[in-house]
Amino acid sequence: MIDEKLKKELIQKGRDFMKGYKDDDMTADSDFNPSDQQLRLPQPPLCKAAMAGEDKRIALSLDFSGLELNNDVISLIRDRRSSRVYTEENMTLEQLSFLLWATQGIKSIRGKSYATIRTVPCGGARHEFETYLLVRKVEGLAEGIYHYLPMEHAIEFLGECENIENDINETLCGQKWAIKSNVVFYWTMVAYRAEWRYGTHSHRVALLDAGHLCQNLYLGVTALGMGTCGIGAFSHDYCNKVFGIDGEEEYMVYTAPVGTVSPEDRAAEAAFYKFVEDEGL
Ligand SMILES: Cc1cc2nc3c(=O)[nH]c(=O)nc-3n(C[C@H](O)[C@H](O)[C@H](O)COP(=O)(O)O)c2cc1C
Repeated sequence: MIDEKLKKELIQKGRDFMKGYKDDDMTADSDFNPSDQQLRLPQPPLCKAAMAGEDKRIALSLDFSGLELNNDVISLIRDRRSSRVYTEENMTLEQLSFLLWATQGIKSIRGKSYATIRTVPCGGARHEFETYLLVRKVEGLAEGIYHYLPMEHAIEFLGECENIENDINETLCGQKWAIKSNVVFYWTMVAYRAEWRYGTHSHRVALLDAGHLCQNLYLGVTALGMGTCGIGAFSHDYCNKVFGIDGEEEYMVYTAPVGTVSPEDRAAEAAFYKFVEDEGL
């Protein structure tokens, strides 16, 4: 229930705040609409609840001491690149655990349950994303669809794919090279989690937030000596179908396959952009 008196007060407060600004200074969003948070409407959950039973849950370790990691930040930033040629060697559960933590891991909770503080920054610490995985080749995991539970640092198995290569290919609009990845990360936005605080402006903020999490994936993958490639060309309809999301309250925003790579494949990688040379671009 919206408190109309509070709403009026907040709109007036917004108008008073903007007094003295030229019209040009006002963005399309500065229409004095108070957000649901300002209207004291209940805060939505910080994370999506588990969807499968507890027997489908796989706890992940936060002890990364067994991983061979490059810790040199300068070389990680320098060597970060997009990789689309994968060697299909094994990937361990510990490596996957590290990448989930690097992209969306929770470090602490602000207040009782006001916000999660994670390994990536996020506007208002709303952390409006959910992580889904199509796991193809990770030691100890059955092939199929998974969902990350950041509060517990666990994944839950949502189900098998009839044909995982086909699902990877179709979700990524026919980018066949991704079929050889070990796992594909899919990030959705749960819109109201951010809208509650920032209204429609939250969708702009989310564009920035999404970049942070994939950059951490790139850096984490580089530290592991593996490869990834951010993917913006994905099929909303196919993703909605595979992950059972409605595409409105929760919609796909970003995806990234992760795979093992070898330095010798750099030439094959270069072939991806051969058209630039061929067409004299
Ligand atoms: C938001 C975003 C979407 C992208 N989408 C795709 C894609 O759909 N397919 C693809 O092959 N590469 C995609 N890329 C990778 C870019 O092509 C790549 O980052 C760019 O060519 C620069 O290469 P580098 O990452 O190796 O520096 C995407 C990158 C970003 C950041």
